[in-house]
Amino acid sequence: MQTEVLWSPNSSPQRMVLQLKPEDFFEVGYGGARGGGKTAAGIAWLLYDKDNPHLRALIIRKQSKDLNDWIDRARQIYEPLGAVIKGNPAEFHWPSGAIFRTGHLNDAGAYSAYVGHEYQRMLIEELNLIPSEENYLKLISSCRSTVAGLRPQVMSNFNPSDAGFYWIRKRFGLHGIPRKAITMADPSTGLRRIFIPALTRDNPALASDPQYNAFLNGLPDGLRQAWRDGSWDDPIIKGAYYANELDQARREGRLQRVPYDPRLKVHTVWDLGIDDAMSIGFWQHKQNYTALIDYYENENFGLDHYRAKLEEFARDKKYSYGKHFAPHDVNRRELSTGKTIIQLAAEIGLKFEKVPMVGVADGIQHVRLMFPRTHLSEPTCEQAVNAFRNYRREYDEELLKFKDTPVHDWSSHAADMLRYASLVEDEMTNEGDIPQVVIPPRPRESIYEGVEEDDGRHPMFRGVDIGKMGHEKAA
Ligand SMILES: Nc1ncnc2c1ncn2[C@@H]1O[C@H](COP(=O)(O)OP(=O)(O)OP(=O)(O)O)[C@@H](O)[C@H]1O
Ligand SMILES: [Mg+2]
Repeated sequence: MQTEVLWSPNSSPQRMVLQLKPEDFFEVGYGGARGGGKTAAGIAWLLYDKDNPHLRALIIRKQSKDLNDWIDRARQIYEPLGAVIKGNPAEFHWPSGAIFRTGHLNDAGAYSAYVGHEYQRMLIEELNLIPSEENYLKLISSCRSTVAGLRPQVMSNFNPSDAGFYWIRKRFGLHGIPRKAITMADPSTGLRRIFIPALTRDNPALASDPQYNAFLNGLPDGLRQAWRDGSWDDPIIKGAYYANELDQARREGRLQRVPYDPRLKVHTVWDLGIDDAMSIGFWQHKQNYTALIDYYENENFGLDHYRAKLEEFARDKKYSYGKHFAPHDVNRRELSTGKTIIQLAAEIGLKFEKVPMVGVADGIQHVRLMFPRTHLSEPTCEQAVNAFRNYRREYDEELLKFKDTPVHDWSSHAADMLRYASLVEDEMTNEGDIPQVVIPPRPRESIYEGVEEDDGRHPMFRGVDIGKMGHEKAA
């Protein structure tokens, strides 16, 4: 009797991903178009060492509901092979003793939850939803092995979109539509990584599906190139609010490294977004000069994490802080402790100044007015600059026109922070700032011609020839 084949790779990229040995590559990035078979390959990839009783694998997916989809798909393969699913978050227990754990990143502290653990295999689904490389590095720090013969390996799947687009592109050295695998060694750890491009047409299960192809072809510009073709070119962003301003800044050299000026204070502007995302802009300002010199964004951390970040920057970059600004409504937002954020911040020594309440549309106008004198330090604020570029109007598919409201997505936090900064720009004062008095410049030529000299006498007699009056003669 022939054994039933439950699953086998159906394209050469899938086969290649599965054959990469952990001793050759620590990190495997399988990325590109939608539907290339990346998730399917990840489920299979974890199976290699399921008979090793010491194997501990971790599967991470950003959203808990998406993680459940993954678990449902994995069950179809793992259960017939003998795995038993237990617990919440779900774990797959194998007859050998090997365990696959799963986790999402919705909860506070999720990125740090695995620090100190050991997972010899880590699968990160939809890496593009992880907003920063820092968080990714934190996650993969627990991909290591003390088990002889089991070398650690991380596999991640991603599409060229969302908050992770720019850092993933840089990490794997991507541009355009990659046709071949790309390999490199990490400059600091020396560990090797490889990117394998995924194309929809590689996947016979979808390539001939007219409905799926119609869906991909019908996507708006930018997203179509990313999802259908797997393109890593800068996306074309329709309805972007600050496209012209950013182009002008680039032309005028205001979009490059801006050094910290130790004579000016560093003011921080905070945005507390939904999903517990936090954005902090580090600004310096003097007359006709406003610079975003640094930027920090993260999610699922308490205030003390951000305060520690400020301290770290002060220590490492010698920042001397001025004021800290937060939006008006920050006072109203109650945390689980029943205290407002302002109160909690005060308890850890952070005093916030309030950003005035101004509507979004007016705020965007303010940003536009501030832009011509604004410098954005691109290397340190790359994430923010990318978000400013992505910040755009919502498109009304029915009326075929742009709405007046911005799209709420990964770029909103940085863009809101920029809006707040424009509203408090004048309040970013430096210590020792003196009130301004406008005095005209000193002229080079004499302006005294025709002006009679003050001879110290009473104005009535000024300029009068006293001699002619007859007094002088006496002397
Ligand atoms: N080797 C395979 N054999 C049979 N079907 C497959 C295989 N690989 C993928 N598929 C099917 O193709 C479809 C798309 O695959 P999958 O979801 O893994 O793609 P993906 O690259 O993860 O997509 P996305 O970019 O949307 O996350 C799924 O229905 C999946 O079951
Ligand atoms: Mg997938």
